[in-house]
Amino acid sequence: MSNVAVVGTQWGDEGKGKIIDLLTENADIVARYQGGNNAGHTVIINDNEFTLHLIPSGILHKGKKCIIGNGVVINPKALLEEIAELEDKEISVNENNLYISKSAHVTMPYHIVSETLKEERDRGRIGTTLRGIGPTYVDKAARMGIRMCDLIDSDIFRAKLEENLEQINVLFEKIYGVKGFQVSEIFDEYSKYVEKLAPFVSDTVFMLNKAIDKGVSVLFEGAQGALLDVDHGTYPYVTSSNSTSGGICTGLGVGPTKVDSIIGVVKAYTTRVGEGPFPTELKGELGDKLRNAGPIGEYGRSTGRPRRCGWFDGVIAGYSAMLNGLSSLAITRLDILDDLDEINVCVAYEYNDQRLEEFPYRSDILQQCKPIYEKLPGWMESTVDIREYSKLPKNAQKYLNRLSELMNVPIAIVSVGPQRSQTIFVEKNL
Ligand code: GDP
Ligand code: IMO
Ligand code: MG
Repeated sequence: MSNVAVVGTQWGDEGKGKIIDLLTENADIVARYQGGNNAGHTVIINDNEFTLHLIPSGILHKGKKCIIGNGVVINPKALLEEIAELEDKEISVNENNLYISKSAHVTMPYHIVSETLKEERDRGRIGTTLRGIGPTYVDKAARMGIRMCDLIDSDIFRAKLEENLEQINVLFEKIYGVKGFQVSEIFDEYSKYVEKLAPFVSDTVFMLNKAIDKGVSVLFEGAQGALLDVDHGTYPYVTSSNSTSGGICTGLGVGPTKVDSIIGVVKAYTTRVGEGPFPTELKGELGDKLRNAGPIGEYGRSTGRPRRCGWFDGVIAGYSAMLNGLSSLAITRLDILDDLDEINVCVAYEYNDQRLEEFPYRSDILQQCKPIYEKLPGWMESTVDIREYSKLPKNAQKYLNRLSELMNVPIAIVSVGPQRSQTIFVEKNL
C-alpha cells in the first residue's frame, strides 16, 4: 500500500489522464490538489472518450473515492456540467464517490469576465484558458475569496458577495469601462448550484488523513505541468497554482511524509498551449506533423486550441525532475515519433554565445535561448502494439534511455497509444 503522485513535467497535456486512470486500479482514493477547469485530462476506454476537467480521473472506476482538494478552484456551473456529462455516459457521481473540500475557492462570473477583458486588452498576453482561474487565485491570496463553505451558507455567501462586489464593480466601471455585477443575479444563479453541490461538500483534510492513517492507498492527481507552476514555471506565462509536487501538501492538507512516490508524466516530445517561451518549438511542417499524428491530435482538451509542438527539451525536463523530486517516469505518446528517421533532443541551450544547462528563470532569457540538439536515429516502425520494453525497436529503447538519462530518473511506464492496453509497464509494482 503506498501513496503515489502523478504530476505533469512539461507544459501540461503530457497524458496524465491516461496514466492516472491506469494507476487508479491500485488506489482507493484519487485526490486533485490544484488548478481548476483549465485542466483537460483525457481517458480513452475502448470507444468511449472522457475529458475530465475538475473531477479526478479516478471517477471512471467503480468503488473509488475522488477528492477535489482545497487547493483546487471550482466553477460550480462547470462542475455540474461535468457531472451531467459523466452521468450521461453512465458514470455515477454521488456523495459516496465525490468529496469536495470545504475550503476550495469558488470561481465567480466576475473572475471570468475580468480575465477575458484583461486578455483582450493585452491581446492575449498569457493566452489563458479564460476560465477565471488566475482571478480566483488572486482573490484567494487577497483574502477576499468565497470558499465552498461560504457558498453553502446563504447568509455568509450573500454578505461576502455584497462586500466583494462593492470593490469589484468599481474596477469594472472605472478601469474597464463596463457595467458591474448585481448581487441578486449572482446570488440567485449560484444558489441553484448550491442546492446540487452541497451534499458533496465535506471536510476532506481529516477524511484523507484518517484514511491514510488506516493504510488506504491514495493517488494524488496533478494538473498542468511543472513549467506552468506559478513559482517555478516560465513566469508570467504560467497558471496561478503550484502544479509541482509541492502543491500536494498545501492543496490537500497532507504532510510530505505521506507521499511515497512521485511519477512524472513526460511526453516523448514537447507541447505547449498559450503564449510564452518554447525553445524547441517547431513552427513548420514538422510541427504540423507532430500535431496531427496519431489517433488524437494535439489540440487543447479544454479550449480546442492547437498545441504548439516541438522536440524533447532535456533542460526543462531535467529541471522538472529536480523540482518534483521524481521517483520514476511515465513516458507517453512514443508512437507519435514512429515514422521519423531522425529525432532531435535538446541537451542544453546557447545563450549569448555561452552553453546553458540550467533553466534560466527569466522568460525573456529563455525566449532567446537556442536549443543545442543531439541527433538520435529514429526507428521507423510502429510501436502501437508493443507491450514489452525489450520488444521495442532498439532505436526506440535508445531514445527512451536517453530521455531517462537526461532527467536522471528511471522509466516506470511507456505509453504507445491512448488506450489502456497500449501501455508498457517497465516497473510492475507501482
Ligand atoms: P493531460 O492533460 O496530461 O491528461 O493530457 P491530455 O489528455 O490533455 O492530452 C494527452 C492526449 O494524448 C490525450 O488525447 C490522450 O488520449 C492521448 N494519449 C495519452 N497517451 C498517449 C500515447 O501514448 N499515444 C497517443 N497517441 N496518445 C496518447
Ligand atoms: P492539463 O491539466 C496545458 C495553460 C494555458 C495558458 C496558461 C495559463 O490538461 O495539463 P490559465 O487558464 O491556467 O490561467 O492559463 O496555462 N494551461 C494549460 N496548458 N494543459 C493544461 O492543463 C493547462 N492549464 C492551463 O494554456 O498558457
Ligand atoms: Mg490536458
